[in-house]
Amino acid sequence: MPPSTTSEKGSAPGPAPSQATFRFRCIGCGSVSSSAAQDFRCSQCGNLLEITDSSWNSRNPTALKTLWRERRTLNESIDLSGVWRFREVLPSPQSEQQIVTLREGNTPLYELLQSSRITGVPRLYAKHQGLNPTGSFKDAGMTVAATFARQAGYRWVACASTGNTSASMAAYAARGGMRSLVLVPDGKISWSKLSQALDYGALTCQLRTDFDGCLRLLQELVRKAPVYQLNSINPFRLEGQKTLAYELLEQLDWEPPDHIIVPGGNLGNSSAIGKALLEMLGLGLIPRLPKLSVIQAEGANALVRTLRETEGKHLVSMQPETRATAIRIGNPASWEKAVKVLQATGGACEEVSEIEIAQAKAEIGAEGIGCEPASAVTLAGLKKLLKQGFVKPDETVVLVLTGNLLKDPDYTMEFHRGDLFKGTAQEDQSAKLNPLRHPPVVLDATLDAVIKTLEQADKSDPTLE
Ligand code: F0G
Repeated sequence: MPPSTTSEKGSAPGPAPSQATFRFRCIGCGSVSSSAAQDFRCSQCGNLLEITDSSWNSRNPTALKTLWRERRTLNESIDLSGVWRFREVLPSPQSEQQIVTLREGNTPLYELLQSSRITGVPRLYAKHQGLNPTGSFKDAGMTVAATFARQAGYRWVACASTGNTSASMAAYAARGGMRSLVLVPDGKISWSKLSQALDYGALTCQLRTDFDGCLRLLQELVRKAPVYQLNSINPFRLEGQKTLAYELLEQLDWEPPDHIIVPGGNLGNSSAIGKALLEMLGLGLIPRLPKLSVIQAEGANALVRTLRETEGKHLVSMQPETRATAIRIGNPASWEKAVKVLQATGGACEEVSEIEIAQAKAEIGAEGIGCEPASAVTLAGLKKLLKQGFVKPDETVVLVLTGNLLKDPDYTMEFHRGDLFKGTAQEDQSAKLNPLRHPPVVLDATLDAVIKTLEQADKSDPTLE
């Protein structure tokens, strides 16, 4: 389907001729265009596109900070959204009525007190994107991309997913009056995420392949059928996800942390955060760049290997395997964008083991915060980066927790029951995680039994030592 700059039904979304100022720029050859093809790839060289807008640079940073803060007291839905609150640095839809929002964003920045003690980093924070409406960071991007899908008159939106994108897309499609098509791997996806897509009314296809296979098929599909793709290849998604960083810096009174650490899967989120940091520096909103580091699971470490083995020049793809199913990806679509932002901010890229992930997840849970396994790679990664001396204990560190604890209850139950590593090569090693387990206790329904259990637990309480 040819690219178009109009909003007529079925066309790829681009700026309205009269008002929109944003453009699509290829990250490879740099060519700029006012429209994008269905697959969101450069028509010249096939690389990914990003959105730019020259009007963003004409803003006064102090006025922007005041405006964004003032909007937190207003009651219009566009101001209640923690994404559209930052609309001066987002692509503008033709009308505010088009905006599809579930009041995403405005997520808390928590101090991690116990993890601070464990790591020896006193200024350690978690930006909890799992507290978005569908329980993951995807909502921040989805509000923007769903808005532009609706504006372009699409009836169907579609994505390949390890679970969270599909849950988010299905919700925003339903809110925007669109149908959604979900392509997920059959197996190795959490029921919790899948059930969200079902409830929000998606047509859900469990394909006998992995995430990378689903994404390949989706890319073919969008060239043949009038469906609008909502994977993070879609640059509107990254514009929305970008606001995570704007909001974080606002929460820190625009004093940049030394480090921001994110999980890496398909690498859209790290690319979006990096884009935001570079923009904020350019706009004069922050005086210096934090280092943005990406952490992957050892069994799904395509970016780690790409940087180690080719210095970021060629993607080293792989057959992924990890219990952190959200990041079970071997052929990340946005790897080049991620390499660029890592290099621009001076960040690191590390991998962590399944045991390290399970331990970090339990530690974040024990703070009364919790997250899904993929998010916990950030704390596990921080420990590694501290050991390597890349992060210094007196620096300020923000971990981006991408998904809610409730996203993967099977993992959590298996961990606490002691089954997570049963029959695996890590079974012996996993014994060291026992003090972090809190399995349920089955008892006779008597007062005596409960009191005895309480007394026993009190005697062995590690917090009293
Ligand atoms: N954390 C969670 C909870 C995720 O769901 C994902 C990706 C990531 C981290 C990695 O982010 O892909 O931008 O590098 N989930 C996608 C999905 C792939 O389909 O839900 P990324």
